[in-house]
Amino acid sequence: MAIKYNENNRIFKLDTDNSTYLIGITPEGYVGHVYYGKRLESDAAYYLLRTDEPPFTPSVNKREKSAFLDFFPMELSCGGIGDYRESCLNIRNDAGSMGCEFFFESYSVMPGKPKLKGLPSSFGSADEVSTLEITCIDKILGLKVVLSYSVFEREDVITRNVRLENIGDNLLKIEKIYSACLDMDNEDFEVITLHGSWARERHIQRHPVYLGKQNVSSNKGESGHQEHPFMALVTPETTQTAGSVYAMNFVYSGNFIGQVEQTQFGMVRMVMGINQDEFSWNLKAKESFQAPEVVMTYSGEGLSKMTHSYHDFYRRHMIRSPYKDKKRPILINNWEATYFDFNTEKLLDIAREAKKDGIEMLVMDDGWFGERNSDDCSLGDWVVNEKKITGGLRHLVDEVNKIGLKFGIWFEPEMISPNSDLYRQHPDWAIHIEGREATQSRQQYVLDLSNPKVVDYAYGCVSKILHSANIEYVKWDMNRQLSDLGSTYLDSESQQELFHRYVLGVYEMQERLVTEFPDLLLENCSGGGARFDPGMLYYSPQIWCSDDTDAVERLEIQEGTALIYPLSTIGAHVSVCPNHAVGRNTSFETRGHVALAGTFGYELDITKLPEAERALISEQTAMYHKYNDLVREGDYYRIASYSQNKQYDCYMVVTKDKSQALMTYVQVRGVPNSKSKKVKLMGLDPKASYMLEGTDAMYSGELLMKGGFLVKGMWGDATSRLYHFKKK
Ligand code: DGJ
Repeated sequence: MAIKYNENNRIFKLDTDNSTYLIGITPEGYVGHVYYGKRLESDAAYYLLRTDEPPFTPSVNKREKSAFLDFFPMELSCGGIGDYRESCLNIRNDAGSMGCEFFFESYSVMPGKPKLKGLPSSFGSADEVSTLEITCIDKILGLKVVLSYSVFEREDVITRNVRLENIGDNLLKIEKIYSACLDMDNEDFEVITLHGSWARERHIQRHPVYLGKQNVSSNKGESGHQEHPFMALVTPETTQTAGSVYAMNFVYSGNFIGQVEQTQFGMVRMVMGINQDEFSWNLKAKESFQAPEVVMTYSGEGLSKMTHSYHDFYRRHMIRSPYKDKKRPILINNWEATYFDFNTEKLLDIAREAKKDGIEMLVMDDGWFGERNSDDCSLGDWVVNEKKITGGLRHLVDEVNKIGLKFGIWFEPEMISPNSDLYRQHPDWAIHIEGREATQSRQQYVLDLSNPKVVDYAYGCVSKILHSANIEYVKWDMNRQLSDLGSTYLDSESQQELFHRYVLGVYEMQERLVTEFPDLLLENCSGGGARFDPGMLYYSPQIWCSDDTDAVERLEIQEGTALIYPLSTIGAHVSVCPNHAVGRNTSFETRGHVALAGTFGYELDITKLPEAERALISEQTAMYHKYNDLVREGDYYRIASYSQNKQYDCYMVVTKDKSQALMTYVQVRGVPNSKSKKVKLMGLDPKASYMLEGTDAMYSGELLMKGGFLVKGMWGDATSRLYHFKKK
């Protein structure tokens, strides 16, 4: 039993294989956080709530209730009544006052996990997950608050969400609702977050938790390039293999906040949820509101264990696509090859050459519809441009199929160009504030997806095109953030629902897509990797990781991404040099090695590639087929980081049964006088011997991990090697 309730000491005990989470109910009915950490046998932990210490608990002495509220470790904090730390729930009543205080009412435990209405969420069978729902009531407001915890024992994951129900007769305004709160004593915590920009997504940042608040957030309408819905608190000694890690990741693709606050009493409060900025929701009588899910994991063995828990969890319990456990077709995308300058003949030329080298799918990127020959028009007009695609889409797809390749297509369904037939007919469908000229970004506006008619139209366009030919893959792009938040569909009281309703509209469209086309391979994308989050993984098994395809830049981007997300989800392509984002030259071989730690594909004009590079493609496609099962399904280990040592990067993937390991070593910067580099492998069987492929050298697993492996010196910058070890 993963979830137990001890009525005598009023403690809920949630156990995973290696962690325990304890929740305590005080005599007043406050739902308190007692413990999260290494797995416990005992649940006699009520004393950890410190309710017998001054400041007095309200049931004993109301005189210092505020001091109690400002100190007590809450499972979900409320705003307006005297807990001055970050609140998770702000509710305004119909008289205009903000204040909420809920108390324990009842609980239920169920096998499995209910779906979250309208939202992506993790899933599992009755023997993989069980769920605790704690129902609380604020009688004054007439509000039911359901705190939900789902325990995935094998992956050491607990997911949390909150559901509100207006059980009174009056309108309530939700002004803030976070999905998770974790109050703990500070252990000199440091905080790890991910930061970036366009073409520089998810670089890892780590620093001490200072007094006060430190957060990551988005107010852009999507999770964003700049900050990421992830936060981990780690004890200062934490490395890949040691230290305590408490992590949260948000299953949501819109505005978020993840925050840690060190309080006056030496505690920390970590919270995660929908960003409060420009959010409020009218909760009418008898209606409910479902907040998105947070995925929490605890590791007592450092960062590697956290990474493995997340990777296994997302592979088993978030990604639904039939492709999730399959090798993806090696694709060639024409974006960096041609940009907007292509036609049927050009695409067929690429397809014919690609086929010769083992490439399996052609993806036609932006520019095939309306009058779109640059990024200044036609979004919304999803009609094939037969001046470019002569003979029509069906003809092109059939010809590509005859060559022996699958066919994939690009869409940006959430957008509308001011210069489009759609905008001329429906200017009111663009998000904008009446009377104010909306801000353009990439010369486009965003469609108002709070309006069901707009959702129907946009989805209908995608569906129609997909029915018109044998299209087996879609790249779903989103190239600008939201601004000028105004909807002609919503009334003035509901305008602050637009950000969230927009995200719900995106989810609805993608749900319809994967339901109507269950065999489709969907790759999400947002100006590179601005919407790389667990919410999107629920719909697509892979996400384009970054518009920066430079092998060196990708090392840091992919390191940060792989800290949480499986390599099977990371869209990665080989492109030409000098690289289009940074102008750097790297060897073709290294570009292949780096892309191998992702979905693997090409983004170049194969018809113009220098012969020496072209000759390597068939070797690389064979390499992909040889190693992809291992890369997609194995355990990923970070050995060394170029982001830290500024010289080389090293990571490896090991099969679950430890019979094979693939190590990638990239020398980013050549240095004079260098000797071989000793790297300590991870995750091997210490009792086994491993043979290094291509040699007859045998190594002890124990020695490779404790003593290390010697990587022979390399010549030059951005050069790399793969090492494949096989158990004998
Ligand atoms: C941004 C994407 O990240 C690129 O790969 C490409 O599809 C362009 N958009 C097309 O406009």
